[in-house]
Amino acid sequence: MFRPRQGVVVNPSTEPKVLEEGRVSWSSPSNIAIVKYWGKRGEQLPQNASLSLTLSASQTQMRVSYAPKGPKESPGLRSFLFQGLEKERFKARIQNYLHGLKDRLGFLDRVCLDIESENTFPHSCGVASSASAFSALALCLCEIQEELMGASLPREDFFRKASCLARLGSGSACRSLYAPLALWGNVGQGPFVDDHALPFREIHPDFLGLRDDICIVDGGVKPVSSSLGHELMEGNPWAKIRYATANRRVRQLMDILKSGEVWDFMELACAEGMALHGLMWVSPRPSLLLKPASLAIMEKVIECRRRHKIPLGFTVDAGPNVHVLSLDRDRKTVAAFLKEELAPLCERIIEDRLGEGPRRTAGEGQGGGRG
Ligand code: DP6
Repeated sequence: MFRPRQGVVVNPSTEPKVLEEGRVSWSSPSNIAIVKYWGKRGEQLPQNASLSLTLSASQTQMRVSYAPKGPKESPGLRSFLFQGLEKERFKARIQNYLHGLKDRLGFLDRVCLDIESENTFPHSCGVASSASAFSALALCLCEIQEELMGASLPREDFFRKASCLARLGSGSACRSLYAPLALWGNVGQGPFVDDHALPFREIHPDFLGLRDDICIVDGGVKPVSSSLGHELMEGNPWAKIRYATANRRVRQLMDILKSGEVWDFMELACAEGMALHGLMWVSPRPSLLLKPASLAIMEKVIECRRRHKIPLGFTVDAGPNVHVLSLDRDRKTVAAFLKEELAPLCERIIEDRLGEGPRRTAGEGQGGGRG
């Protein structure tokens, strides 16, 4: 339910008479799935449930200025700057996204938007930025709607709505709204929701010290986009088994996270990372995204785990970069391992860890701090 701001009586279905100008700003993190979303149906809905870690260091900071469109202007995206530069490819994707949201956000037909976006992680380094970017943008759009309506949703509903909108930009983005972990999809238990993610907070304290050291083996553009990868699941003879396995794994992972079984967590993470690539190899158009260095890193992680008897694991998304998972308490051993054995195999290592979720940032909008 909408809550009117400062005593203004607002019917959420009515449109504001006078459009004001303003600026909103959100910072939102990337996430890494332990159980992967791979295969979609309908309007960006997942074929199976997924569960991800919400990261801390890898963030997109987005500022969106809005103003009523001039008589000769077309509504929608007027300008888009990424790290201070115009990026036509990103601009086109956002334009397309905003166009698709017109039925959901009526104000998009009457305003012009100027967007500035920056990532805390290096550009073209191989870290997926669509999750952080679309979650930040969805939050900005929800905030603008509230500014224009002069009314605000309760925090939980606001985030749910933002998660839903972020999903339409990029499926995995819907999980970035929640920390420390996020669950998306139907696990076959409880109420069925898969148009937005949910926070997963029932975790044993040992997991709060989870680290993700992202080994960038190749920061170039991936030869196969995630969107094409999802599509190829349609003709994959293993698809049905995969979806059932993933849902079972999400349920297992939920139990592991609650009970603090850190060794089982690492085993499951590695199994899922490898399964994703296995699925690509048995798809109708097989693709090989791992590089020799990716495999060398995976082998070294397994070897280091054996040698030092510490819970260490990895996961891999649809690319060659390897996310090395460890716990804070083993940092000394892991830091030496990364420096001596993994750094020589990759372009760079981005040190990340479990984060706190999106944050409304300063210097914009008039609404009360929500982030
Ligand atoms: C392997 O969310 O990037 O990272 O919905 O087409 O934008 P679109 O795909 P995307 O797919 C993510 C795939 C994955 C696994 C995951 O994050 O769950």
